[in-house]
Amino acid sequence: MKKFSIVIAGGGSTFTPGIVLMLLENLNQFPIRKLKLYDNDAARQSTIAEACKIILNEKAPEIEFLATTDPEEAFTDVDFVMAHIRVGKYAMRELDEKIPLKHGVFGQETCGPGGIAYGMRSIGGVLELIDYMEKYSPDAWMLNYSNPAAIVAEATRRLRPDSKVLNICDMPIGIENRMAQILGLKSRKEMKVRYYGLNHFGWWTDIRDQNGNDLMPKLKEHVRKHGYTVPKDDADASWSDTFLKARDVYALDPDTLPNTYLKYYFYPDYVYEHSNPEYTRANEVMDGREKFVFGECQKIIENQSTEGTKLHVDEHASYIVDLARAIAYNTQERMLLIVENQGAISNFDPTAMVEIPCIVGSNGPERIAIGEIPQFQKGLMEQQVSVEKLVVEAWITRSYQKLWQALTLSKTVPSAKVAKAILDDLIEANKDYWPKLHKEDVVVR
Ligand code: NAD
Ligand code: G6P
Ligand code: MN
Repeated sequence: MKKFSIVIAGGGSTFTPGIVLMLLENLNQFPIRKLKLYDNDAARQSTIAEACKIILNEKAPEIEFLATTDPEEAFTDVDFVMAHIRVGKYAMRELDEKIPLKHGVFGQETCGPGGIAYGMRSIGGVLELIDYMEKYSPDAWMLNYSNPAAIVAEATRRLRPDSKVLNICDMPIGIENRMAQILGLKSRKEMKVRYYGLNHFGWWTDIRDQNGNDLMPKLKEHVRKHGYTVPKDDADASWSDTFLKARDVYALDPDTLPNTYLKYYFYPDYVYEHSNPEYTRANEVMDGREKFVFGECQKIIENQSTEGTKLHVDEHASYIVDLARAIAYNTQERMLLIVENQGAISNFDPTAMVEIPCIVGSNGPERIAIGEIPQFQKGLMEQQVSVEKLVVEAWITRSYQKLWQALTLSKTVPSAKVAKAILDDLIEANKDYWPKLHKEDVVVR
């Protein structure tokens, strides 16, 4: 069996240790000869890297390990780039979430103005990774889950159309794990799903077991009452709220089951009212996941051993191995990916980046035809995909005007006036990250 060389870009991510442990757990089906971490923040990465080195020494000393901030060293001789960078890190996420709140609009990592701001930062960072990959390992594939995936995917479509990049999100997987629990199944893989939408903006239309039995009625019954809440739920408070709120999201279209992120578009007033402008999700993550992961890594380094560590395999990240295996071994696995529509949704923009089931093999994904979608979803998706396209257009043309249009078009922003006020604050906050925008004479009375 061929052994693979992998670089994790965004090595300093809070998700890196869980993914490394997951890769080690899956070595029998996805053998690795070399594992590298790459980040542009040496200090942040070093804590994670030192701990990962000890983990590898204990579990798979035969794997060559290296952590670097040098692109040539990182991207030379790799088969897969697993990319999860956060341009601007949590400090900028906090501003993405808090600036809109000052203007009466909720703040969120990937939705609304916060997602737009993050998109304007991410595009350059992800394109840079693609260019490094193509320069130093032209045969490699990038599995990208850096957010905001919808905007990043549109940027790769526009600016690197021939690159071997697959954009993927774990939210449907997280929700499907919950569905499997609700149904009493051992694994989400016992379900065959039909799903369509944009990233963080989609619907399940059909869910069946392996014998073809319809599982939707039982799921709908649960979601109608409890959203995606499951017994023994250990999600953080803000996520618990999101999983419960799915029941009100579901109420809009009882024919389908919704992605949780639709709460931000259907109930922006609710989200705003339940936000604390002093303490947003970024604060919850910094006080929770970041402290925990870096603290555990520090303990491993001090003890030079993983004994007693609370770090655990990120089981739900195993979709990354499924995707890499699909490419490496032509497994023809069916997976939800973010791909150019090209007619799969027949009454929707063929150039839109949509999230739909694909069959993945060595030559990449093949779309599964969805057919026509209903007016409600089509209308929502046309508005949202236009926002995403305008953000990328603004980034490419350095246009203030296009970005103002994007914010104004977002269902989450009440008026062009509010859009402009948020935009002007975001420009100031992002001056080290966004391209400089040309400002035509913009007058708002
Ligand atoms: P994090 O801040 O802990 O980690 C991100 C790392 O990226 C940091 O170490 C940072 O220094 C590094 N980085 C930033 N810009 C870089 C650049 N230009 N080149 C190289 N490295 C760079 O963030 P996190 O919370 O662990 O999340 C990481 C990313 O994964 C985020 O984009 C997050 O949104 C994404 N994510 C996506 C999904 C999905 O469903 N697609 C799921 C989980 C996380
Ligand atoms: C889900 C989404 C990701 C998102 C993450 C946010 O997994 O699919 O796209 O980045 O949630 O989680 P956080 O814990 O950082 O708020
Ligand atoms: Mn996601």
